[in-house]
Amino acid sequence: MFVEIVLGFTSLIAVFGIASLIKRVDVDPKGKAVLITGCDTGFGYQLSKALDRLGYLVYAGCLFQDGENAKELEKATSSNLTILQLDVTNDKQVSEAFQLINSNLNVKNLNGLWAVVNNAGTSTFGHVEWNTMDTYKFVSEVNLFGTIRITKAFLPLIRKVKGRVINIASGLARQGAAGRSPYVVSKYGVEGFSQCLRYEMKEWGVHVSIIEPGNFVAATNIFTDESISKLSKKMWEEMSEEVQEAYGKGVFDGSVQIMKYYSECGVKDTSPVVNSLKDAVTKKYPKVRYEPKDLYWHVRTFVMLHMPHFISDRLYHF
Ligand SMILES: NC(=O)c1ccc[n+]([C@@H]2O[C@H](COP(=O)([O-])OP(=O)(O)OC[C@H]3O[C@@H](n4cnc5c(N)ncnc54)[C@H](OP(=O)(O)O)[C@@H]3O)[C@@H](O)[C@H]2O)c1
Ligand SMILES: *[C@@H]1O[C@H](CO)[C@@H](O)[C@H](O)[C@H]1NC(C)=O
Repeated sequence: MFVEIVLGFTSLIAVFGIASLIKRVDVDPKGKAVLITGCDTGFGYQLSKALDRLGYLVYAGCLFQDGENAKELEKATSSNLTILQLDVTNDKQVSEAFQLINSNLNVKNLNGLWAVVNNAGTSTFGHVEWNTMDTYKFVSEVNLFGTIRITKAFLPLIRKVKGRVINIASGLARQGAAGRSPYVVSKYGVEGFSQCLRYEMKEWGVHVSIIEPGNFVAATNIFTDESISKLSKKMWEEMSEEVQEAYGKGVFDGSVQIMKYYSECGVKDTSPVVNSLKDAVTKKYPKVRYEPKDLYWHVRTFVMLHMPHFISDRLYHF
């Protein structure tokens, strides 16, 4: 009996050991091209630098090709990185980026595109009644339809090399939060789109990964003091008088203050997210879902997804 137990444990450890070794195997970056959107700042900026350093051929899509950030990125990277003008809401720019990448790959005698990282994103805040339909449409146009537009455009190149699609959703892509609905609906959409695509792409050998970062607001440009002031001024002006009176300026200003506080708290180091993205691009066996977030958000996500509402409401949405 004792021998069987020891043997059982040893083989379990061996299986886990081998599995973790296999998980660490990298693909060869040579001749592998990656398109990343939203590289002006934040995760996209950092990922494009990291992949360039590893020897990937990086196409860094920027909202402002001639902006300061794009220039800085160009200076900080090798000649293997190409900056592209790419507003993900703009059909013309997407098709021009496709033409450029496609002919570039042909010149280099490369068969296709190894990965697309749908990173470009925007955010807002404020209650449902404070936001206009235009705001809902704008946020989803970037976060959701931008992701779908880019994916549809580049899948033919990705299928050719059995490459990957990597979509940045959010810790708020599978749970709601008061005051974040335009963003949350767009990210739920990204989550649903990614799941459907993943099943469809199995027969093509194309892998789809979803990244769900927790709160890294303080470490990126997604919310800044300035952008919150601008957004809130516009939001208050566009609200109906009835809604202004019903909620009151005090409550409104309070929630702006909370948002400003939120934009400065949270993790300042983006490396958990950049490492997850890097992993999804470079590992032979990438994960389906990466959840780079701190313990608070891990616990909250677990409670929100698996506990009865009387518990999760009491803890997080009182
Ligand atoms: N930071 C977090 O805590 C967090 C958490 C969960 C998920 N995320 C997601 O992570 C992704 C990257 O965001 P980030 O946190 O790194 O923030 P970020 O610093 O604002 O980066 C997003 C980038 O996308 C660009 N962009 C905006 N609209 C675009 C468009 N139409 N076409 C192309 N690029 C566009 C932005 O340019 P401008 O700055 O000029 O607008 C910005 O450079 C986003 O999808 C975001 O939703 C972030
Ligand atoms: C560009 O990429 C190739 C192949 O991946 C690599 O051998 C080369 O060193 C890279 N060039 C620079 C300037 O980093």
